[in-house]
Amino acid sequence: MTRFGGRTALVTGGAGSIGWATAERLAQEGARVVLADLEGDRANRLAARLPRAVGIGVDLADEDGAATAVRVTIETFGGIDILFNNAGISGPVAPVQDLDPADWDHVVRTNLRSMFLVLRATARAMIAAQRPGAIVNMGSSMAGWDVLTASPGYVATKHAVVGLTRSAALDLAGYGIRVNAICPGVIETALGVPAAGREAHLAAVRSFADRIPLRRIGQPEDVAAAVAFLASDDARHVTGAEWLIDGGQTLQSWANAPAAPAFPRHRDTPQQDRDAPGGDEGTRNDPMPG
Ligand SMILES: NC(=O)c1ccc[n+]([C@@H]2O[C@H](COP(=O)([O-])OP(=O)(O)OC[C@H]3O[C@@H](n4cnc5c(N)ncnc54)[C@H](O)[C@@H]3O)[C@@H](O)[C@H]2O)c1
Repeated sequence: MTRFGGRTALVTGGAGSIGWATAERLAQEGARVVLADLEGDRANRLAARLPRAVGIGVDLADEDGAATAVRVTIETFGGIDILFNNAGISGPVAPVQDLDPADWDHVVRTNLRSMFLVLRATARAMIAAQRPGAIVNMGSSMAGWDVLTASPGYVATKHAVVGLTRSAALDLAGYGIRVNAICPGVIETALGVPAAGREAHLAAVRSFADRIPLRRIGQPEDVAAAVAFLASDDARHVTGAEWLIDGGQTLQSWANAPAAPAFPRHRDTPQQDRDAPGGDEGTRNDPMPG
């Protein structure tokens, strides 16, 4: 017996690390899968590795793109039962005082607008078909629960995922549609990193292991397992939840964190130094991914 036999899942960001690991996991447990991603060629190549799957290239922050992803899912497999609402970017690294409004708009459009549009199109399809369903939204432990430095757009969108999830869970509960959020910590992926910098980035990610209570870096498969649980009937009484998958990262207060981050010390910095170009360069934290 498989948990997802006869069911269809739409995985957004399906050509990325966590999306692909989850698509594979759902397929292993019997689901038919649609991988929707800006990277349509890659989504198609990955889908070809699964028994019952298709890839589709769409911009999910565009209303037509989001509607197309849901329509193709239904036309190809006859319905939609599961949505993993995962597509996202990390956005630019800049403290709030330096953030360009165009960069703000880009990260909000990608991480929040796309999530709303795909959630709405999926919920409408499930309601019209009188089908119960499960929706899992992608949040973040460090950006949606805690706060990262120099990533105000990313942090704002990942905090908003929690609000959207709880609100949608309440609106959709009467239709038998459950909506939950997962909040991973550092996961070994190259989120937002160009291919050229991939290996250096992954090495940096691995170096965070001793700052995580469970002393390991999360893997995309760890996230996939949690999504599979929330999407399955095993979680039939779970809705509106936020599930941390972070090895205990967010349990640490400043007092017992092994390597407390160094923040800019403006109160100790004379005004003229702060106003000088590059006045506080070198004191900012490099934000962790996720
Ligand atoms: N990697 C981590 O440490 C971590 C931690 C917490 C949360 N997350 C979240 O997990 C999700 C997946 O991240 P990942 O690490 O697998 O990164 P990834 O870059 O491998 O995957 C993201 C995918 O989303 C796609 N995408 C981006 N914008 C899109 C759009 N407008 N329309 C369609 N597709 C779009 C990208 O093409 C990419 O394939 C993101 O939402 C991220 O914020 C990641």
